[in-house]
Amino acid sequence: MAAANKPSLDTLGEIFSFAVRRFRAARLAYGHGTTNARDEAAFLVLEGLGLPIDRLDPYLDLRPTAAERARLLSLIDTRLTLRLPAPYLVGAAYMHGVRFHADRRALIPRSFIGDMLADGVLPIGDANKVRRVLDLCTGSGCLAILAALAFPRAHVDAADLSAGALALARRNVASHRLGDRIALHRGDLFGPLQGKRYDLILSNPPYVDARGMAKLPPEYRHEPRLALAAGDDGLDLVRLILAEAAQHLTKDGALICEIGRGRANIEAAFPRLPFLWLDTEQSEGEVFWIARKDLVR
Ligand SMILES: C[S@@+](CC[C@H](N)C(=O)[O-])C[C@H]1O[C@@H](n2cnc3c(N)ncnc32)[C@H](O)[C@@H]1O
Repeated sequence: MAAANKPSLDTLGEIFSFAVRRFRAARLAYGHGTTNARDEAAFLVLEGLGLPIDRLDPYLDLRPTAAERARLLSLIDTRLTLRLPAPYLVGAAYMHGVRFHADRRALIPRSFIGDMLADGVLPIGDANKVRRVLDLCTGSGCLAILAALAFPRAHVDAADLSAGALALARRNVASHRLGDRIALHRGDLFGPLQGKRYDLILSNPPYVDARGMAKLPPEYRHEPRLALAAGDDGLDLVRLILAEAAQHLTKDGALICEIGRGRANIEAAFPRLPFLWLDTEQSEGEVFWIARKDLVR
């Protein structure tokens, strides 16, 4: 590029605009905390400098030091060349303002169940009455942590098959100082939880079907395959969870499970189960709620 055409990159606002232009030109894929080039660039430059990520405006005229500027340009470049999702680049992701460590050992936190926990919209009644919660397929531990915050009197078990994901979850639990309320378990689904019962089981299991896996944008291929792939119709894990959940729920307990695009398949496979579909501003028909009494009748 001729020197005269080089963009000036002295302020955070200029670096942000540069990133937006390059992200748009490269047609990046989003979905790991942001949905467009502007929000992605804002997240990267703010988190990259350790600033609060909710507003860029107050920092537009900030002049980063040479080292900070070099760091931001390197983050922007790596986002483009490796197509790494932004949270893996900066090591952090947020759900409802709650910060989690993020790295390639686990899926980047982004479950709709997190929105429901944070907004208090689950059909539960008194949150203080929820005393035992299971987060099955916990990954980074994000839902276990949001559940511990939403249900202040609950003990939370969090389980996953992946030792790497559990190591990251342990770090997140420690950062939120919840080690006395969240216990981590390693094993295949309910395997490590024999004999235990819960008022609420949450699960955001792998649910990408074979077609979806074949078409995954590069960004999503950096996430563990174990966290995404769930057989031909994406319901391999959900079927197993439905088969065993009742044995691990208290009498009035319930299962809440995210399943992506699998609603038609699951309703066809389990026509007698009265799933209650819980929607958020961003999702429709992707999360079901079912009470234990309806699983066993
Ligand atoms: C979609 S990720 C969800 C992570 C986290 N709950 C979240 O919402 O960000 C699914 C998780 O299920 C775990 N997993 C896959 N198969 C499993 C199995 N058979 N038993 C237990 N966990 C499993 C993966 O390691 C991964 O961490």
